[in-house]
This record gives sequence, C-alpha cells and structure tokens, in this order.
Amino acid sequence: MILAVTMNPSVDISYPVDRFKFDDVNRVETVRKTAGGKGLNVARVISQMEDEVLATGVLGGTIGDYIVQELNESNIPNDFLRIEKESRNCIAILHEGMQTEILESGPTLSKEEGTAFLEKFECLLTTASLVTISGSLPKGLPTHFYRKMVEISCNKEKPVIVDSSGEELKQVLKHEKKPFAIKPNIAELSQLLGFEAEAGNIDMKQTLNHEIFKGIEWIVVSMGDKGAFVRHGDDYYQVTIPKIDVINPVGSGDATVAGLAVALNRNQTVESVLKTAMTTGMLNAMEAVTGFVNIRKLKKYYDCVKVKKID
Ligand SMILES: Nc1ncnc2c1ncn2[C@@H]1O[C@H](COP(=O)(O)OP(=O)(O)OP(=O)(O)O)[C@@H](O)[C@H]1O
Ligand SMILES: [Mg+2]
Repeated sequence: MILAVTMNPSVDISYPVDRFKFDDVNRVETVRKTAGGKGLNVARVISQMEDEVLATGVLGGTIGDYIVQELNESNIPNDFLRIEKESRNCIAILHEGMQTEILESGPTLSKEEGTAFLEKFECLLTTASLVTISGSLPKGLPTHFYRKMVEISCNKEKPVIVDSSGEELKQVLKHEKKPFAIKPNIAELSQLLGFEAEAGNIDMKQTLNHEIFKGIEWIVVSMGDKGAFVRHGDDYYQVTIPKIDVINPVGSGDATVAGLAVALNRNQTVESVLKTAMTTGMLNAMEAVTGFVNIRKLKKYYDCVKVKKID
C-alpha cells in the first residue's frame, strides 16, 4: 500500500462568473466543490492506476467531514488525524478568462497535534510499502516536520517521495536520513539552490551534482511541456514528451508523483519508471479535473515518451 500524505487538505471551491465586480455583489449559479490538496491528487491518481493507496494527514470540522465524505464516495481509503479546528477552504473565482484565488491558510496545529500525527503516521507505516509527502505544512508545525517524517520512514525502511518546497524541502535534504525521491519543478529547484536553474542538459547535470542532493536515489526535475531532467544514482537522463492538447495542467506534478510512486512500488525499470511518471503528468494535463487521469490512454502516450541517458 502507498501512503499518501496531505498535511493541510482543503475543500476547493470554484465560482465561475461572467464578469467579476469589485466592491459589489457577485452571484454564482454553478458552484463546484472538491476535496483538494496535493497529496489528495496523488492518492486519486494512484487509485485510478488501481494500486492500493491510503490517504492520510490532518483534518477537522465540517470541512474535514466533507473531505472524508468525498474520498469515501470515490472509494479512496483514508485515515486522517482528526483535530477540533476547522480545515480550510480554497476559493478560485473564474472570470474573464482569469482565475483569482483566495486561499485560507488553514488551522494552526499545536505541538501535541503534531506529535499525535507522527504517532499515527508511524502506525500507518507498518502496512505501507512506500510513502508520498506533498504540499506545504499547516501553520504551527516546525519546518523540520517533514524531515522527522522521513526519518521515521527510513527507520522502518520505507522509501519516501517528497514533493515540497522552500525551507521544508531544504530541511529534508540536509538531514542524514534521505528521502528516496524528490520531484521539484524548475522554480522549486531554483528556490532551493538560490540561483536560477537552467533547463539545458549540461547546466542541469551540473546543478543536480550539487552537494545537497547527495544520497538521494531519484531527483526528478519536472519541466511542464518540456518533460523532465532526472538524476538516478550517478546516471542522468533527459526525458522528452510528445506535444499534447492541454486542458488544465494544474496538478500535473501531483499526477507525476503518483506515477512515480506506482512505478517504483512495482519495481519497474528506470526507463519505465520515468515513462510512467511523465505519462500520468500528461494525462492529468489533458483533463479539466485536477487529479484525474484517463488510464485507458496510458499505453498510447507512454510509448511516445523518450528517455535519453546523458553522458
Ligand atoms: N503543458 C504541458 N504539456 C505536456 N505535459 C505537461 C504539461 N504540463 C505538465 N505536463 C506533464 O506533467 C509533468 C509535471 O508537470 P509540471 O512540471 O508542470 O509539475 P508541477 O509544476 O509540479 O505542477 P503542479 O505542482 O501544479 O502539480 C511534466 O513533466 C509533464 O510530463
Ligand atoms: Mg508541483
């Protein structure tokens, strides 16, 4: 079973309006509400790939209830730490071809709630074969919280894929217990290193040779429609993808993490792991719904992904 962690899930609400009026009333007729959060997208895609998954993290209140209800309706097994405080709403107003977002920061967790989650996490690890950690931490938890989760997982010999950014990711990488894989995009990679990372092969090879990546088996730098550049052990790969009709690329990175998790969990070859991860990302970009992939198209697009080893 793959354990997919979302520490600060949300209910994502979209409000389509013809024209967004400031300092006035905006009425909305068709409202869409979905359980959101990067780890939930990962869990959904793993489930669509027919692998066993368990969604976990922290949630509370009626918004938390809504998230659980939606996961149950989609037959996604879940086991979250329940807290008293209310989980968050994230609102996207779709107007005049633009998207204006209002994102609540979510509940502030206490130290005790953090500890309670770590205990739960350790318990859930017993039946897990691989872990994914996605997105940012809720307020109240220290930036080394993911580092702690990676440490607990390593002690139980469970590989972890971390898809996070900023200080939280830095803390994970600096620790002696390493994640098995990370999947930064170019912006996250640049932020991590403190300089603008360039997508060219020679530059990328040099960049991923940085001290900070020592001991991490897989570094998958996703680059949207340009595919990915990857370091696996001491080998480097450029992965290119076909041109596709993009409908909504949001969550493609999460779908890539899901593909990566499933392929690694199935002990696929290096080439196959990378082709699977790229394909699930593309399939997500081809759909309107975030965290949805049409698995019947997998084979067709998988065959079009090219993996080239860079000397
Ligand atoms: N416009 C696109 N065209 C084709 N494939 C795409 C496109 N955007 C994303 N993908 C696929 O999804 C993968 C991950 O996308 P991307 O690099 O944008 O991740 P991300 O920035 O982490 O996204 P997010 O955090 O929104 O999920 C890409 O490597 C690629 O395979
Ligand atoms: Mg991402």
